[in-house]
Amino acid sequence: MSGSNDVRFRVTPGGQLGGRLRVPGDKSISHRSIMLGSLAEGRTDVSGFLEGEDSLATLSAFRAMGVQIDGPHDGRVHIEGVGLHGLQQPDGHLYLGNSGTSMRLMSGLLAGQAFSTTLTGDASLSGRPMKRVTAPLTSMGAHIDATAEGTAPLLIHGGATLDGIQYHMPVASAQVKSSLLLAGLYASGQTCVTEPAPTRDHTERMLSGMGYPLERDGARVCIEGGHRLRGISIDVPADISSAAFFLVGASIAPGSDLLLEHVGMNPTRTGVIDILQRMGADITVSNQRDVGGEPVADLRIQSAQLRGIDIPPELVPLAIDEFPAIFVAAACAQGRTLLTGAEELRVKESDRIQVMADGLQALGVNAQATADGMIIEGGDIGTGRVDSHGDHRIAMSFAMAALRAQGAIEISDCANVNTSFPGFVEQASRAGLQVEVL
Ligand code: S3P
Repeated sequence: MSGSNDVRFRVTPGGQLGGRLRVPGDKSISHRSIMLGSLAEGRTDVSGFLEGEDSLATLSAFRAMGVQIDGPHDGRVHIEGVGLHGLQQPDGHLYLGNSGTSMRLMSGLLAGQAFSTTLTGDASLSGRPMKRVTAPLTSMGAHIDATAEGTAPLLIHGGATLDGIQYHMPVASAQVKSSLLLAGLYASGQTCVTEPAPTRDHTERMLSGMGYPLERDGARVCIEGGHRLRGISIDVPADISSAAFFLVGASIAPGSDLLLEHVGMNPTRTGVIDILQRMGADITVSNQRDVGGEPVADLRIQSAQLRGIDIPPELVPLAIDEFPAIFVAAACAQGRTLLTGAEELRVKESDRIQVMADGLQALGVNAQATADGMIIEGGDIGTGRVDSHGDHRIAMSFAMAALRAQGAIEISDCANVNTSFPGFVEQASRAGLQVEVL
């Protein structure tokens, strides 16, 4: 949570979404562009960079480690890569705000440096589990101090000698996989990570794009130290996780017809489209193309009557950030929607199972939290106040719920919308959402 309880959204019910828009750049790819661009040799030019607080936290951290980074100016960032061994010790700790991706990926990368660093974050990030990265990194030879609960602040001791490991991840996590691959850049021998289910593969794609050898074989990816990265141009697509609010909003608001441009369609991220289409959503994918190793397309969404479904558990990691929005779709669907196998939602920026169930219930929706998911009976959305608990995706999801609500919805603690979607209120208003900031 940001501690900024004073930013509230008030959304007037009704309306529809229309027109065309390009939501901000992909958060995962933006983080990685700074990290890998900094470690590359030569210049990396980024366009479409997400100017949100999370990716800016990563940018500031690398600047603090001596990397010359110009921008962002209108999404353009230029990074003068310092090479794998060119980072310098920062003056103080590196504050990473709300950003789990920054902390987990940088833990691996920093475990291989000659100098020590301390990583800190806000109250939400300081409560999130870090053992999932510190434990396997420690078995590679890293020295990392955390709190007794295994949370930040993390003190990553410099000068450790890392050895490659063979690691079978107990949770399907791209952050853990990426953290170990980044440590693997500095390890002797091979570091191999096997995932229990496919997770986003932006790190692997960008490493390959920068000329770093990588072996992929089904669920296993292996890397070895001792090679080099070269600077490249990176065109960051629009974030499908930000597009998701509009996919849901346009689906549930009668009369909507909206075009979302240049959306990242990496198959490890498109679970939200599969799930909404199974619920009966009318989504047309066009203009499919490849942009610098990442698939991109335009998406047209027209409103449709949705129906409840049992969400296939194998789609969970492919839609992991989109469940707050999908729950809103389920609340507007005919019949019951059942989600299982999603206990990871409890350790995101907030406990997204509990916080969404509480908010939906406050609006009169029959939503029952379970240990690993939710049961939602579709029906009417009422009116009232919900608390986003400082979770950006929950705030934006409830904003879209107002399109079908019987009265206004007021959402508290919305400042963190800026972590992933700066300009949300303006873009959503232009598309037709009647939202004001209180
Ligand atoms: C991310 C991976 C996911 C996702 C997060 C971004 C990434 O987290 O929820 O928003 O950029 O690697 P997990 O790896 O914890 O599932």
